[in-house]
Amino acid sequence: MRELIEQAIFARKSAYAPYSGFYVGAALLCKDGTVFSGCNVENASYPAGNCAERTAIFKAVSEGYKEFAAIAIVGGKATEKETVSDYVTPCGICRQVMREFCNPESFQIIVAKSVEDYKSFSLNELLPESFGPEQLT
Ligand code: THU
Repeated sequence: MRELIEQAIFARKSAYAPYSGFYVGAALLCKDGTVFSGCNVENASYPAGNCAERTAIFKAVSEGYKEFAAIAIVGGKATEKETVSDYVTPCGICRQVMREFCNPESFQIIVAKSVEDYKSFSLNELLPESFGPEQLT
């Protein structure tokens, strides 16, 4: 877990967040061990911005990876570097995007303040009673 959190902390350095000043990094672990990182990318037209989690997931899917085991997320103000003051849990839109590709019982969402200080949730815990692709088959 330490390594995945380190990668999220590293990805956070690339965050483009001039409007909120809130820098988020994510590291998505594929079932085969491949990791895709992501950061939030904001926009002068605010709704056009993208969260770190979705950046990582869309990068992975666009490279042909759709089997995911876990994601580590680290977020905080620009002044906070290796350690942040709060756990950042994914927004509702990111939870729904995870639901498209990830097993709700087994996919782990790791929210970290530092490499040592983190909490882990299943997707089901963060998005109970969810709507997913099976409903449309
Ligand atoms: N943000 C993320 O990237 N991930 C989260 O889990 C929460 C919010 C971003 C979106 C926006 O760029 C900034 O943080 C403030 O909401």
